Amino acid sequence: MFVQGSARGAYAYDEDGRRYVDYIMAYGPLLFGHTEPALVRGLDDVARSGFVWGSTHPEEVRLAERIRAHLPSMERIRFATSGSEAMMSAIRVARSFTGRDRVLKFAGNYHGHFDFALVAAGASASGAGGIPQSVHREVIVARYNDLASVDEQARGVESGIAAIAVEPIALNMGLVAAEPGFLEGLRDRARRWGALLIFDEVITWLRFGLGGAQGRAEVIPDLTALGKVLGGGVPIAAFGGRSEVMAVLAPDGHTFTGGTHAGNPFCVAMAHRVLDLLESHPERYAAMDALAKRLADGTRAILAQRNLDYAVVQQESVVDCKFRAGPAGRNYDDARRADVDAYAAYHRKMLESGILLPPSQNEVMFVSTAHTAGDIDQTLDAIEKSLPSA
Ligand SMILES: Cc1ncc(COP(=O)(O)O)c(C=O)c1O
Repeated sequence: MFVQGSARGAYAYDEDGRRYVDYIMAYGPLLFGHTEPALVRGLDDVARSGFVWGSTHPEEVRLAERIRAHLPSMERIRFATSGSEAMMSAIRVARSFTGRDRVLKFAGNYHGHFDFALVAAGASASGAGGIPQSVHREVIVARYNDLASVDEQARGVESGIAAIAVEPIALNMGLVAAEPGFLEGLRDRARRWGALLIFDEVITWLRFGLGGAQGRAEVIPDLTALGKVLGGGVPIAAFGGRSEVMAVLAPDGHTFTGGTHAGNPFCVAMAHRVLDLLESHPERYAAMDALAKRLADGTRAILAQRNLDYAVVQQESVVDCKFRAGPAGRNYDDARRADVDAYAAYHRKMLESGILLPPSQNEVMFVSTAHTAGDIDQTLDAIEKSLPSA
């Protein structure tokens, strides 16, 4: 088992100081690798006035305004500490606004580790022990990229649905893009049913650019949850949406969300640093994408030599390859057909070759701005050594 001792740039080091090219990247937040100088420099100055205040402050408001400039659908914003909290709060807001309890979600999407979210969850969530039956009764699970499944699962209870929650680009059952028309279909159904559409952009925002998945899909959700890259490695998250919807929150409304560390000045300052970097260096995205393409193309070439019919999916800085023959997956049924034992053996061999991959095939490989062409080539050499033959 890999036990981490330290980290630097694109690398994780084990307890004995052995170096690994890291593609877990803390499961998403580390867009700039572990120790980007622009993020870690001068932290004493940031910490000088303390870590947490418990009162609203101008930098928090300024951060909300910066986020809204990129995601105009987030007319009003509240900060939280984790993506789980942001999604949990967004769902509470939707329930309060609609006066309904049920939530429709997709098998293989992951929205965090609170009760609702773990029903049929992807990522590394294994099992839903401890979740009350009453929660199961409030959740409707549909198949991703399948509007017929949405209609079938919702039939007869449409008027009881508070929200449709979705990852607009799914990254917790491997990388599965929403097919053309899917998000539009959800938007349309939410409107017809009087439900709210919640985009979980906890991974996608900033990973896929400043406009997030909603910018490129041109589908406007009622509520959005953010996290991960926003803090560049420190825990900060946010949720927000239409003003009239967010108005249910106290003190204006009768719905409470909170959090001792929510909006704390230290994490807010880090989020400003992340936005400073991305707004002033958009070229960093192109460099990451080129490296990820090199990795994806190289992997495809090795698979072809071995006659292995596994799809390699790449979207910008994310690369995904499943041990499953046939075209790229469209939903969780596809993801679950991957060969767990073959991947486990591959994972072990890659580790021996100095490459740190996520242990579950539901997770993806994250390339960061700290990775280099040399890292990618080392990874491709390791793939050559580690992949089985057909
Ligand atoms: C899409 C998505 N939503 C929510 C979460 C939960 O975020 P956190 O782990 O910060 O609670 C995750 C975490 O992986 C995620 O991938």
